[in-house]
Amino acid sequence: MDTTATFWLPTAGSTVAHEVDSTFMFIVWMSTFFFLLIVGLMVFFAWRYRRRSGDEVKLDTGPTHSKLLEATWIGIPLVLVMIIFVWGFRGYMRMRVVPANALEIKVTGQQWFWSFSYPSGATTVNELVVPADQPIKLLMSSKDVIHSFYVPAFRIKQDVLPNRYTVAWFESKYPGSYQLFCAEYCGTNHSEMIGKVRVLPHAEYASWLEQSTAEVTGLSPVDYGRQLYKSKACITCHTVDGSPGNGPSFLGVFGKETDFADGSELVVDENYIRESILSPRAKVVAGFQPIMPTYQGVLTDKEIDGLIAFIKSLGGGSE
Ligand code: CUA
Repeated sequence: MDTTATFWLPTAGSTVAHEVDSTFMFIVWMSTFFFLLIVGLMVFFAWRYRRRSGDEVKLDTGPTHSKLLEATWIGIPLVLVMIIFVWGFRGYMRMRVVPANALEIKVTGQQWFWSFSYPSGATTVNELVVPADQPIKLLMSSKDVIHSFYVPAFRIKQDVLPNRYTVAWFESKYPGSYQLFCAEYCGTNHSEMIGKVRVLPHAEYASWLEQSTAEVTGLSPVDYGRQLYKSKACITCHTVDGSPGNGPSFLGVFGKETDFADGSELVVDENYIRESILSPRAKVVAGFQPIMPTYQGVLTDKEIDGLIAFIKSLGGGSE
């Protein structure tokens, strides 16, 4: 498929780009058509029915209304906006629902740069490196203010917030380098908070990852989380073999629909785990007592990320 930039739009570098573009162009050309039609008729009528000298001015004559005409100008726009709605909604859902086989990369925004953390433990700054032909899930959070992750060529833009996770995903079939912007004013150097997304063929990505991981002395997020699970005493109350302790076991909880003591229910995700670490009494799992202390101020964001990665690695759901 043709990926080159046009007069209207930048390079189409992701699998959703063409769908976004065709919806956009449909709206542009439809608007152009009606603009020309309406303005054209307006000019024509103004000229055709202009007042000629000596004409008698009659204020109480002329047509009142036409049911056919009214039905037409209600019916045609209704059909057109419903086409846009269905088309747009389907595209929106495709862009929001992350494929189950996506490769997850942690994105951190802060004044004024981006950092990326890969499952192997490798990290990069201002350059996201991904394999082609592979859905990529970006799990994003901010260390300070609101930023926004924006890659025009992929047609994705998502706010990156402090104290919670947001998600975006994309898949690119076209190896190359794509511009990354911060699209939310975040302070003095907002305009310099830019980077690149480098899409590599699979084999090149594998060797890049191997090399980058070898440079890292630290642990992978999962191993880091496993270590914290012991050192921060989670192990005292939470097992990893499925048997309940003072608290629920971590085995298979991620992505699982869970019932709470107050009768509500929720699918366990990154934000739920984060909340349970920082405000353990907000949603107590049914059958357990609200006895866990808060870890607010005890664990850093990096440590919470590690624990989440560890809990995810214990399976559950479709992730
Ligand atoms: Cu970060 Cu603007």
